[in-house]
Amino acid sequence: MTLEVIVLAAGAGTRMRSGLAKVLHPLAGRPLLAHVLDVAAALEPRRIHVVVGEQGDDVKACFADYPKVSWVTQQPRLGTGHAVAKALPLVAADATVLVVLGDVPLVHTGILADCVRRAGTGLALVTAELDDPAGFGRIRRRDGRVAGIVEDADASEQERAIREVNTGILAAPWALLADLLGAVSADNVQGEYYLTDVVEIAVERDVPVVALPAPQAEEVIGINDRAQLARAERYRQRRLAEALMADGVTVMDPARLDIRGRVVAGRDCVIDVGVVFEGDVTLGSNVTIGPNCVIRDSTLGDDVEVRPMSCIDGAAIAPGCLIGPYARLRPGTELGEAVHIGNFVETKKASLGAGAKANHLAYVGDAAVGAACNIGAGAITCNYDGVDKHRTEIGSGVFVGSNATLVAPLVVEDDAYVAAGSTITSTVERENLAVGRGRQRNIQGWTPPARRRDGKGA
Ligand code: UD1
Ligand code: CA
Repeated sequence: MTLEVIVLAAGAGTRMRSGLAKVLHPLAGRPLLAHVLDVAAALEPRRIHVVVGEQGDDVKACFADYPKVSWVTQQPRLGTGHAVAKALPLVAADATVLVVLGDVPLVHTGILADCVRRAGTGLALVTAELDDPAGFGRIRRRDGRVAGIVEDADASEQERAIREVNTGILAAPWALLADLLGAVSADNVQGEYYLTDVVEIAVERDVPVVALPAPQAEEVIGINDRAQLARAERYRQRRLAEALMADGVTVMDPARLDIRGRVVAGRDCVIDVGVVFEGDVTLGSNVTIGPNCVIRDSTLGDDVEVRPMSCIDGAAIAPGCLIGPYARLRPGTELGEAVHIGNFVETKKASLGAGAKANHLAYVGDAAVGAACNIGAGAITCNYDGVDKHRTEIGSGVFVGSNATLVAPLVVEDDAYVAAGSTITSTVERENLAVGRGRQRNIQGWTPPARRRDGKGA
């Protein structure tokens, strides 16, 4: 059997009250539609047809590189049945068609695969049991068997009490779906072509119809407004935190951890509250992350300790490093073993060799710092001349005194010393002490202003 997927995403998403297309709003750091496409792609369909409308160009641009996707523009939007009918001519006639809504980011492959499998030569749809079914299409049953779907706007008071709702996930062979859609009319309260009408038509024609109740309603329910988006986010975050805990990570409060990407962690890591992970993050074993840290696209080796309020982005951190509190590691930072980066230290495109320390208030950018160096408080690499960036090369065992200004391009050789407060503009040779500051002079017999004013001065 070949499978083709149709994803409906032409809706205006009015209830989001947003300039951004609904399916581009992020959940766990990625657009809603990305989650749906990933799940659909995992079924290995021949193609995924995405139906877009008004904001279609934004959506297309966002997924330009997504494999197997082809785009269908639906304008005007005359309903979900019309949307599927627009896509069907692009689907192979021998395919089984799976229809999914673009705003159900928590859906997973298992449910979709079940729906496709159960369709067989008939129709299968996924339903959900809701405490508050308002707004959804209700599943009408007769003697326990599905008889049709009535939309909220068209439902009688009695039908509105039904708690089993349509999720919009539906599968059928191409020919059957095309045939059933051909019989759908827009004769309803909204004047739309409802995809949902195919169910009743199928039942009337004795086509087998299977309804699959989803075990977790949250996972198949669409997002219409920002409150639902926030609930879906928490649901997903809870699952991601649970997966980390199952892998042996201590999460101090699963409700106060956010993963917007992918985290792989070794055993016995401890993640404190308010931590945000973005992109691809890899943690070794025994890594400790303090409260309120943001870590993006980085690798942290075993036994690394990140103290509170630190931001780490695009860094490779070897085992045993101590980072923060209040450290900022920017892209291109590479730390050797047991490096210490302390409070208010910023690094960018910088490598620090094993055992190097920059414990307070320093900027190390476009620089290589050798092993066992000490970068004093307030020391900075002046890497930018207003036009170009230049590098600072510091050997191993170098001591850079407090408040030193290292003007790049610059080389400081192994075991050299830079005196505190120096401005260094040329090479410091091995084991030399460089002093680049005005000599101290003490002025004797000086009259302070207060004494001058009192006329007591000389
Ligand atoms: C639809 C279903 C309803 C179901 C609910 C689940 C129909 C008629 N109703 O209702 O039974 O309980 O979803 O969330 O199918 N779309 C298009 N083109 C259109 C209209 C809609 O692509 O012309 C897309 C939207 O982008 C959206 C999806 O179809 O992703 C559903 O549309 P929406 O207007 O939200 O349908 P509901 O009224 O919620
Ligand atoms: Ca609607």
